[in-house]
Amino acid sequence: MQRTKITQLLKRTEPSENIRVQGWVRTRRDAKGFSFIELNDGSCLANLQIIADQTLPNYDDLIHQVTTGTALTVQGQLVPSQGKGQQWELRSTAIAVLGSAPEDFPLQKKRHSDEYLRTIAHLRPRTNKYGAVFRIRSELAFAVHQFFHERDFRYVHTPILTASDCEGAGEMFRVTTLPPGKTSVADDFFGTEANLTVSGQLEAEMLALSLGDVYTFGPTFRAENSNTRRHAAEFWMVEPEMAFCDLEQNVAMAETLIRYLTNHALTHCSADIDLFARFVDKDLMKKLDLLVSSEFVRIPYKEALAQLEHSGHAFEYPVSYGQDLQSEHERYLTERVFKRPVFVYDFPENIKPFYMRLNDDQETVASMDLLVPEIGEIIGGSQREERYDVLVRRMETMGLSKDNYWWYLQSRHYGSVPHSGFGLGFERLIMLMTGISNIRDVIPFPRTPKNISF
Ligand code: 4AD
Ligand code: MG
Repeated sequence: MQRTKITQLLKRTEPSENIRVQGWVRTRRDAKGFSFIELNDGSCLANLQIIADQTLPNYDDLIHQVTTGTALTVQGQLVPSQGKGQQWELRSTAIAVLGSAPEDFPLQKKRHSDEYLRTIAHLRPRTNKYGAVFRIRSELAFAVHQFFHERDFRYVHTPILTASDCEGAGEMFRVTTLPPGKTSVADDFFGTEANLTVSGQLEAEMLALSLGDVYTFGPTFRAENSNTRRHAAEFWMVEPEMAFCDLEQNVAMAETLIRYLTNHALTHCSADIDLFARFVDKDLMKKLDLLVSSEFVRIPYKEALAQLEHSGHAFEYPVSYGQDLQSEHERYLTERVFKRPVFVYDFPENIKPFYMRLNDDQETVASMDLLVPEIGEIIGGSQREERYDVLVRRMETMGLSKDNYWWYLQSRHYGSVPHSGFGLGFERLIMLMTGISNIRDVIPFPRTPKNISF
């Protein structure tokens, strides 16, 4: 007999015989002569209520083994539930213990703190909250592909091992096969310095300049030593790159994507989202509705600065032209000034990477960041510098070696066209959709400074 997933079972409209489910016991309640077992198989938030009674040949012996965390195989009939709270229950005809869970099982029936659960990252997906967040992650990853597929974007795979620093920030993890103590790069695996990628953009640009509209969606790595709620050393990024596209169209695409993904989560993850709206962030539904229904603000960097200066608010980091926005500034704009997502565009060129297109004012670049309440920057993007000479000049002022980027420069030499793209931090998106405030809690096994357990 095949296993049926609980998520599929609960959608049935008719009672059924000969059902077989497998999962982990959440709770057991004993009444006179029978027991209720709440079984969860991870396929959905809901448990399946199992009725076990003395018609089971091994009832007395078995029922004491059915403790929280135990894995079971259960066969029986799916029947309308007599009790409140669920439509169906499974009247069991056979129960077998697959794997027992002794009394020291760390997830007993009480609420555990997020901090504690991080120390048992291998078990926390078995809780309601973490099961829900990882199902939402899965569903939204699928929706990312669906969004681009519907729009004839091609999904491209960019390298994870690279020899070039896309963002120019020098925050890369070195990859080497040299034994400790040996330093000659010539002897190293690639014969040159190699790193884990910080972004697939540069290679994605080459593919956009061949296939038109493309996107990458993969893991990226940053050795930023910032122990904050929104930085991870390993995170996933969605990076569309569009040929024949300017900054304004780029911004419009980013807004459409966020709205699409929010709608998708609301439609396809409603039970899981509801859990977060009840237990994690009471205002979550309002916030998600706002993402779907409001038009995002668009303001130039200079105007954003003016808003912050005129606010009279005492910021820890003063605002001044030529400085990047700090998290407190981003939050002030989205939470206090506009109360919704804000695109800030046209940042000063000195705080942005070499590949961004220089504006006619010669001091700003065609850049954009999407800021959202509580999280701050969730998307960073730009129109790319397609003019060979201007690009070379910017690289020189930034001290980048032309030799390392020869292939990138050639794309501006042969059939160069205006093009644009952006990167959406996938974890920050999941934080936005769930109201979870720490990035460590939306990644199954997070990597942050001094932490690479599991
Ligand atoms: O703004 P960033 O650095 O942009 C790029 O890497 C571009 N090359 C993307 C592109 O245009 N194709 O990063 C993009 C997004 C940020 O807005 C943020 O959401 C996320 O990636 N991000 C991080 N997320 C988690 N932990 C970190 N350490 C992150 N750094 C960036
Ligand atoms: Mg950025």
